[in-house]
Amino acid sequence: MNSGGKKNLPPSPPTLPLIGNLHQLGSLPHRALWNLSRKYGPITLLKFGKQPVLVVSSADIAKKILKTHDLSFANRSVLITPKKLLYDFNGLLGSPYGTQWRNLRTIFVHELLSNTKLKSYNSIMEEETGLLVEKIAYKFLTLSTVNLTDAFKTLTNDMICRAAFGRRFSETQQGKEYLEGLKEGEGLVSSTLTLGEFIPCLGWINWLTGFNAARDMYVMKQDKILEAVLEEHLNKGADESKDNFVDLLLGIHKGNTPGVDVDRSTVKALIADVLGAGTKTTSTSLEWVMTELIRHPTVMKKLQDEIREIMKGKQHITSHDLEKMHYLKAVIKETFRFHPSVVMYPRAAREYVNVMGYDISPETEVLINLWAIGRDPACWQEPEKFIPERFLNSSVDFRGFDFELIPFGAGRRICPGLEFAATSMEHTLANLMHKFDWALPDGARGEDLDVIEKHGLTISRKNPLPMKRSNSQSKFKKGPQNLVMGIRLLEECEDLLGS
Ligand code: HEM
Repeated sequence: MNSGGKKNLPPSPPTLPLIGNLHQLGSLPHRALWNLSRKYGPITLLKFGKQPVLVVSSADIAKKILKTHDLSFANRSVLITPKKLLYDFNGLLGSPYGTQWRNLRTIFVHELLSNTKLKSYNSIMEEETGLLVEKIAYKFLTLSTVNLTDAFKTLTNDMICRAAFGRRFSETQQGKEYLEGLKEGEGLVSSTLTLGEFIPCLGWINWLTGFNAARDMYVMKQDKILEAVLEEHLNKGADESKDNFVDLLLGIHKGNTPGVDVDRSTVKALIADVLGAGTKTTSTSLEWVMTELIRHPTVMKKLQDEIREIMKGKQHITSHDLEKMHYLKAVIKETFRFHPSVVMYPRAAREYVNVMGYDISPETEVLINLWAIGRDPACWQEPEKFIPERFLNSSVDFRGFDFELIPFGAGRRICPGLEFAATSMEHTLANLMHKFDWALPDGARGEDLDVIEKHGLTISRKNPLPMKRSNSQSKFKKGPQNLVMGIRLLEECEDLLGS
């Protein structure tokens, strides 16, 4: 504040009465806000209805928020819909900063994502990517295309669920219903930017449109499923393994861990965090990686050459092999820069704070716009081009220290699933590039593949990603010997898939 007690506020575009800047968000808010930042600068203060929202669009200012003033901005959103969808912010994802958040974070990391646990998940990742390869090979024998969008969703969910629940959730009826429901949840998240959310006196609009009823119904349905998951784990026999995240959480809930208070709702909230934060984020990133590889055949070829050279004579890719694949890591980093899946993540101010001379009030929502940061010419040469080589002789990494590349956030609330996500992406991509040559169906050329986005929990492809094996690799169609190989593979796949 200046000596006259007047606040020095960040630049703001003009607002409309009542709705503030809501009318300027459009269907893809990250792009609209990027455009506004080019006019008003990298730190802007908007109004969504009555709610002040600070939009951050440069690496320097992101560093101020997530490092210098991390503690002041360590809260999450204060909005109604996210609160309802996330068990009243009882879990880790939505919890306000404080002792309970710290305890939950320790439990989450220690019981699910510690270094020791991560090492033990390598075998899960290898098995699941191996299975994906088999499924794809099987599909290529019977159909000409595979829908990678669906395949990635199932894969990433199976990986995280085997780690957290001890088995695949997608195979159970409850799991299928829950995952189906998540799509609806995404729709609800993307509709959060409603008038009723930000202007309390217009809250009735959300009743009238049926938005609140749909939201409450969704919350009830998902809760019923998670209740059933808890009951299943509680009723395990004495001889069954109780070594997974859900069992450990239930142990803490029953009071086996002194000093930690985790009620039933918190257990469900933490499981919902795993399912909500750990599935679509990774599958969306995989979709974008494959999209850009198809659009850039020379990059794909260079990646395949690296992987096939390292794997010469070997089929089974291990984490040891992945360590040597530097171009693979560069491709993944470039995808995080160009298509961050969590494109604008929310923080909220806990107290009055001065950022670069600007006064920010408590409860101000903060949106870190990764889309804008990834396209900032101050940080990146030719930011509009997909060039993995930019990372080959560079130390820039995504682990929260280089603020031009923070797809997993930074500071106290950095994503705890970072290593799990990055490793599972490496396993998947290395296998897909090692085992198959890829093309688009119907003779379409790579550069014709669209990059149209859909706003939701993540920014994903609007259209699915159907892919086929390139003609040069259709070996099973060529001769009797290959036909025999094909049939054998088919039989193996059938055994494996139990169908
Ligand atoms: C490519 C995949 C992923 C991306 C891009 C991603 C991105 C993010 C981002 C940007 C945040 C907010 C960080 C901040 O505020 O500074 C976050 C938080 C979080 N992520 Fe991830 N994530 C991914 C995968 C995962 C996985 C696999 C899990 C594991 C279950 C996970 C669990 C969480 C949780 C629980 C939080 C909340 C942490 C807290 O508030 O303390 N994420 N993630």
